[in-house]
Amino acid sequence: MLASMQTQFEKHFETKPDVAAFAPGRINLIGEHTDYNGGYVFPAAIELGTYGLARKREDRTIRFYSLNFEEKGIISFSLDDLDYNADHSWANYPKGMVKFLIEAGYKIDSGFDVIVEGNIPNGASLSSSASIEMLTGWLMKQLFNLDVERLELIQLGRKVENKFIGVNSGIMDQFIVGMGQKDQAILLDTHTLEYHYVPTEFGDYTISIMNTNKRRELAESKYNERLEECQKALALLQQELDIEALGHLDVETFEKYAHLIEDETIRRRARHAVTENARVKEAYDALAQSDFERFGELLNQSHASLKDDYEVTGKELDTLAESAQNVDGVLGARMTGAGFAGCAIALVHQSKVKDLEDEVSRIYTDKIGYAPSFYHVNIGDGVKTIEL
Ligand code: GLA
Repeated sequence: MLASMQTQFEKHFETKPDVAAFAPGRINLIGEHTDYNGGYVFPAAIELGTYGLARKREDRTIRFYSLNFEEKGIISFSLDDLDYNADHSWANYPKGMVKFLIEAGYKIDSGFDVIVEGNIPNGASLSSSASIEMLTGWLMKQLFNLDVERLELIQLGRKVENKFIGVNSGIMDQFIVGMGQKDQAILLDTHTLEYHYVPTEFGDYTISIMNTNKRRELAESKYNERLEECQKALALLQQELDIEALGHLDVETFEKYAHLIEDETIRRRARHAVTENARVKEAYDALAQSDFERFGELLNQSHASLKDDYEVTGKELDTLAESAQNVDGVLGARMTGAGFAGCAIALVHQSKVKDLEDEVSRIYTDKIGYAPSFYHVNIGDGVKTIEL
């Protein structure tokens, strides 16, 4: 991919790139919609991701070109005008990153040209947006010799989502894209940002990614709605409980005080946040003990909770996860990421991967009217430099 990108760089920008980088996508094993509730998440970076090449310019023009959106052409703007602009479509993600790096005091004092190409399926909830944000941060670090730590890039990437794009997401995606390591998942406490690496050793089992191939629509507005519902629940519980986040509640205490939340829908949202958080900790223990069956059960419970209590699945994700759960050799399956569309994951015996694909494909196509896709990818590194 890099060789053809270099050719394209020279074709469009009439010069050679100086630096190159790669930023991965991610899956989340378990711990969904817990990150903006101060809870645990358990994601891993994947070997699919976004590649970027960049070169400094003499003037103050910034140009971005994506080989995934060639129809958008070269998107160009000035270093002196870094406001959000809907016409700049995908380039708003890197633009936001540049803007916030400068606002944080980092010296980006000339324009530059960037070409990107990714192999994360678009809109698949595998974090293509965090990938492009972190890629941009890393390219800027290299190009302008910025003395910026990974954690700061992670926080700036999240700020781009929250303050530039308008999605009030948590820190999970940028964190794993920034900190991922080969064959390791990260157990992250999103409240303290304490984390540690956990080998993704599933014995004879492997993770399959299944894509609904449904275009994600309205996901962002529903996402913000869920966040607001959780905030309402928290405020009601705080009338009697001294807690800073839903992620600080154990299931028992929550059930004892749940009556404070009169609205049944809001109560279910909070229940998901609390029970999901408990499941992450249990899943971590199960993996440490190589208890893959238990890990699989927790995946199934997570999906059910996201479906019934949190209502972020939809018939496509339910069909994928639930049909996978019934395949012989599958220990568990659940949606991954924000939900509504995008991907689900399944923990499946290595010898049954083909059966899983055939069976899920048949049921899904029959019910939904078009086919799902499947990916088998390794767990890979976080954002990194690529030597040219
Ligand atoms: C999206 C957000 C994350 C997280 C997940 C749901 O991926 O970007 O911060 O909230 O949804 O777990």
